[in-house]
Amino acid sequence: MTVERTFSIIKPDATKRNLTGAINAVIEKSGLRIIGQKRVQLSEGQAEGFYAIHKERPFFRDLVTFMISGPVVVQVLEGDNAVAKYRDVMGATNPANAAPGTIRKEFAESIEANSVHGSDSQENAAREIEFFFTDQEIVG
Ligand code: PPS
Repeated sequence: MTVERTFSIIKPDATKRNLTGAINAVIEKSGLRIIGQKRVQLSEGQAEGFYAIHKERPFFRDLVTFMISGPVVVQVLEGDNAVAKYRDVMGATNPANAAPGTIRKEFAESIEANSVHGSDSQENAAREIEFFFTDQEIVG
């Protein structure tokens, strides 16, 4: 097992429904540790920059509009195989396909309002953590 870090976002659909604590409970029950966390309102430019990798996809503008529609909670998670583990804990992108017990099955509303984001590789985790956090804001 390798101790890794991954990056998470609790999305506006979840913060609006007061689900931050419920989602954090699922994260912590999985064994992942929340070692950095802050609630922020993304600007349009920040959301466009964060999701630049998807800028040619048809849903890009909708995704940016959704991600700035309310506050988000950005997080750094640490644990054994954290990137893959958090992808498992989140469940499939479309909640209709997510397994029982996953965050998206329990809480997500749609493929757009799907409650959480998690990095898909260690390389992207490092990039995404750096996008939002200074070293001083991460306490392992
Ligand atoms: S994934 O998890 O990155 O493999 O999923 P992917 O299908 O590549 O989707 C990338 C992000 O885009 C969001 N998404 C959408 N937003 C709005 N409308 C539609 N139709 C849609 N399809 C996908 C999806 O939730 C992913 O967001 P993040 O924040 O990366 O999880």
